[in-house]
Amino acid sequence: VTVRYSDDLAGVNEAMLDGFFEGWPSPPSPATHLRLLQGSDLVVLARDGERVVGFATAITDGVLSAYIPLLEVRSDYRGQGVATALIERLLARLDDLYMVDVVCDDDVVPFYERLGFVKGVSMMRRDYANL
Ligand SMILES: CC(C)(COP(=O)(O)OP(=O)(O)OC[C@H]1O[C@@H](n2cnc3c(N)ncnc32)[C@H](O)[C@@H]1OP(=O)(O)O)[C@@H](O)C(=O)NCCC(=O)NCCS
Repeated sequence: VTVRYSDDLAGVNEAMLDGFFEGWPSPPSPATHLRLLQGSDLVVLARDGERVVGFATAITDGVLSAYIPLLEVRSDYRGQGVATALIERLLARLDDLYMVDVVCDDDVVPFYERLGFVKGVSMMRRDYANL
């Protein structure tokens, strides 16, 4: 399997975005997925042919800070370093910033630790009516 990486959405449409938001109680549609990719300051995609098999997004002020709201690799492409490559590509473009933050579940902590992140405390609000 050859996975290619891209830093833009050229040629991407909704039909190429199936299989994401696995396990979410009310998963965003491919159309919503495409809109949030378009609305992000930075996006990195992993692609196998036409199909998008992984993505990561970042929101940034371009001065001091950035946040990585979403990272996912399709379940059939996991365990091959795709997520590592996505985050490394994102971090390379955020290299001049003071802070890069991410909120994740406990099981993903080792993944981010390997990439140089340290554990902190976060506060968050989720409104499921807006999902
Ligand atoms: C977490 C996730 C992005 C990892 O993707 P991936 O392409 O399999 O990651 P990589 O192959 O680059 O690295 C996997 C490594 O991370 C570790 N890891 C940590 N948490 C993990 C998790 N929840 N699932 C899979 N691997 C995880 C594995 O042990 C693995 O280490 P190894 O290579 O030494 O075995 C993927 O499992 C996923 O999309 N999960 C659902 C969405 C999610 O949790 N996103 C993060 C929210 S911030």
